[in-house]
Amino acid sequence: MKIAVVGTGYVGLVSGTCFAETGNSVVCIDNDKTKVTKMQAGEIPIYEPGLEMLFHRNIKQGRLTFTTDLAAGIADAEIIFLALPTPPGEDGSADLKYILGVADDLSKIITDYKVIVDKSTVPVGTADKVHAALAARLDTTLFDVVSNPEFLREGVAVEDFMRPDRVVIGTNSVRAEKVMRRLYEPFVRQGNPIIVMDEKSAEMTKYAANSFLATKISFMNEVANLCEKVGADVDMVRKGIGSDTRIGKRFLFPGVGYGGSCFPKDVQALYKTSKDNNYDFKILDAVMDVNSTQKLIIGNRIIDTLGKNNGKTVALWGLAFKPNTDDIREAPALYTIDLLLEAGYNIRVFDPEAMENIKAIYGDKLFYAKDQYEAVEGVHALAIMTEWNVFRTPDFNFMKSKMTGKMIFDGRNLFTVDQMVELGFEYSSIGR
Ligand SMILES: NC(=O)c1ccc[n+]([C@@H]2O[C@H](COP(=O)([O-])OP(=O)(O)OC[C@H]3O[C@@H](n4cnc5c(N)ncnc54)[C@H](O)[C@@H]3O)[C@@H](O)[C@H]2O)c1
Repeated sequence: MKIAVVGTGYVGLVSGTCFAETGNSVVCIDNDKTKVTKMQAGEIPIYEPGLEMLFHRNIKQGRLTFTTDLAAGIADAEIIFLALPTPPGEDGSADLKYILGVADDLSKIITDYKVIVDKSTVPVGTADKVHAALAARLDTTLFDVVSNPEFLREGVAVEDFMRPDRVVIGTNSVRAEKVMRRLYEPFVRQGNPIIVMDEKSAEMTKYAANSFLATKISFMNEVANLCEKVGADVDMVRKGIGSDTRIGKRFLFPGVGYGGSCFPKDVQALYKTSKDNNYDFKILDAVMDVNSTQKLIIGNRIIDTLGKNNGKTVALWGLAFKPNTDDIREAPALYTIDLLLEAGYNIRVFDPEAMENIKAIYGDKLFYAKDQYEAVEGVHALAIMTEWNVFRTPDFNFMKSKMTGKMIFDGRNLFTVDQMVELGFEYSSIGR
């Protein structure tokens, strides 16, 4: 099939590459010239495990190309995916200017039948708005609009895309449904479902999924905070409840709050949708409130313990909002850095993949270490913000010899309390 993907970010590039991998011919379109020039030169603009090999193979075999020219990019496509940003607007609602802007552009250039797919996370009713934007200039027999939310997780995006738990397709058009089923069949050969529903339910499904997961995280963070007060161990509690199949083991790890480009903005946007519809989705308000406090927990602990404006130095291990990505959007590390800079700390940072992205924000305000050991040289405390595997079994004695202080603030519960005490660290973790 011939496919165009508009917006070549984490979702667009992974989707486009994986569609090419199953034999389709894919044109990825982006208005960021630098990014497109890079990709045309065979350079991958993001870090995503497993993507590089597929990216190069499909470019080499001529199934994956890149352009900034929307008209040329969509000319032959049967399906046009919109994988554009939907950042929060001032009032918390998802900003649809990119989606509706491209829909308007498409209305001027489409000449034969196309399936236009909302792949971005968009509020309920967006498919109707995209339809209206296209219908302003086009005969409605020339297109169908489908909602096809994406559930991939950064860090395992290729795996998630190639073997999705489910594919959700929101459409009332039999013609578009057929096209979409044909496209997705190779991805669900093991029997995972393609679930077809109306557009609004598909749009709601994505927000409900992310909001539920964010709720699970905030719930566990609250349990952890209470564990500390009553002297319980959240690790044990997690195992105790996670073995109940009604609850499940995943998403029960307490930490420094959720971040990333999705959960914060999606919870906010669903809450805004509820308000716009005269409904007060109280749980979501609490989830956001809990998370905004949790994101500051490590920074506040450091300041409470080490004081303010006394020239002390802290190391941060992990900057990305989670492991296996270079994405730092809404990362708890950013909130911690801001808090500590304001309190007069010197900060040394290390992350296996996110250093360039952090440098672009903080410039010479931080010291950028070449590895985790250089980061702890001369520091009074170490804060662990992201659970990269490389941080799990460090050379503790070597660390101790480099650090000035003995404090570790572990926001991800990487180590056991007993082990840290035995090693002579002053160890603070979450809920234990
Ligand atoms: N990142 C994730 O893990 C994830 C997962 C599921 C869903 N989503 C949703 O998918 C959507 C895209 O997210 P992302 O993380 O890939 O965003 P991103 O910011 O990484 O990528 C968006 C791309 O769109 C391009 N773009 C902007 N305006 C354009 C235009 N007019 N024409 C062409 N290209 C344009 C940008 O240059 C950028 O490359 C969002 O709605 C997001 O909520 C993201």
